[in-house]
Amino acid sequence: METSIGLVAETKDGERRVALDPSAVAQLTRGGARVLVQAGAGLGAGFDDADYKESGAHVVPDAADAWAADVVVKVKEPQPPEWTHFRPGLRLFCYLHLAAEPALTRALQDAGVEAHAFETVSDRHGLPLLAPMSEIAGRAAAIMGAAALAKGNGTLLGGAAGVPPARVVVLGLGVAGTMAARGARGMDAEVLGVDVDLHRLWTAHQAGTVTGTLASSPQSVAEAVAGADLVVGAALVPGARAPIVVTEEMVAAMRPGSVVVDLAIDQGGCIETARPTSHSDPTYLAHGVLHYCVTNVPGQYPRTASRALSAAVTPYLRLLVADPADQRLAGSLNVAGGDVVHPAVAEALASGGGAA
Ligand SMILES: NC(=O)c1ccc[n+]([C@@H]2O[C@H](COP(=O)([O-])OP(=O)(O)OC[C@H]3O[C@@H](n4cnc5c(N)ncnc54)[C@H](O)[C@@H]3O)[C@@H](O)[C@H]2O)c1
Repeated sequence: METSIGLVAETKDGERRVALDPSAVAQLTRGGARVLVQAGAGLGAGFDDADYKESGAHVVPDAADAWAADVVVKVKEPQPPEWTHFRPGLRLFCYLHLAAEPALTRALQDAGVEAHAFETVSDRHGLPLLAPMSEIAGRAAAIMGAAALAKGNGTLLGGAAGVPPARVVVLGLGVAGTMAARGARGMDAEVLGVDVDLHRLWTAHQAGTVTGTLASSPQSVAEAVAGADLVVGAALVPGARAPIVVTEEMVAAMRPGSVVVDLAIDQGGCIETARPTSHSDPTYLAHGVLHYCVTNVPGQYPRTASRALSAAVTPYLRLLVADPADQRLAGSLNVAGGDVVHPAVAEALASGGGAA
């Protein structure tokens, strides 16, 4: 019998993305899959039910109908009200970030769900299903940081004639950090890139993505952060809880009205004072420093983000439907048979690395 794929609408606050666009659904249905799309799932991203019907999908009225499929694909980690749809044998494919979600992990284990995470799929280039959203989140971080500075200490990133530009520190020059640095450079800020990987620092410096680089160490980071107007956190160790790169003491030493944007919050945060926030209430003050720690930043650019995610996810979804043990899905499986089977995720959870 053909495998059914359920595409469910997102329920997280401010989340308007959808995991598959109509062109992806057309590819899947042409390949013989039966795709059940929850009515209205694509509306936030500008795709209506008629677009999905034309692509060969069955539009179903309720979330439960889409969750009843053999494989369920969505964007963000299931929210507690969605956990009632969990059942033995369900194959789930979405962002999970379980190192920061012990309660969700337990719910998946208890229900016997086979849970595959986008963010831990790896290939020779890195993390192919995290990269497109990190790219968007990084670009957005520069925009959000610049806007938050208007509310904070009132510094314009590019400065003005006779006034130096803002000082921006980017922690982790991977995909998200590089795009945040590019965005801030594009607005003429002075940008210092921090990483443990010296090759990444060299590359970013040669490309002109940053004005300076710094090897990550507690002393060097403390000094850089103390003089920064904007700090962007984007440090990641795949699968694990984010490393704490900026301590509470370092945040307390920042000037009042400075801003931190912690993108790594979905993995627990790389700035100690960061706690998850939402699009409806994105910022808070800690030690006089404005914190922006939204866990689904790309959700506010749903059209671009859905198309980028859909293009990246579809080839892997086809593999998952055909054979979940396919080597090209390496790293995707996080929970199976009631156990956490991804080593880095299991280690992070065992050491109590959940988000605050
Ligand atoms: N909040 C959101 O909406 C959102 C969206 C997309 C991605 N993200 C998150 O952004 C983070 C970064 O993702 P990415 O795709 O850019 O990862 P990446 O793997 O491309 O880059 C991570 C970088 O961090 C560096 N790093 C590791 N430990 C470090 C340390 N102690 N100090 C400095 N640098 C260190 C690594 O060397 C690497 O260059 C992840 O946590 C990801 O989940 C968040």
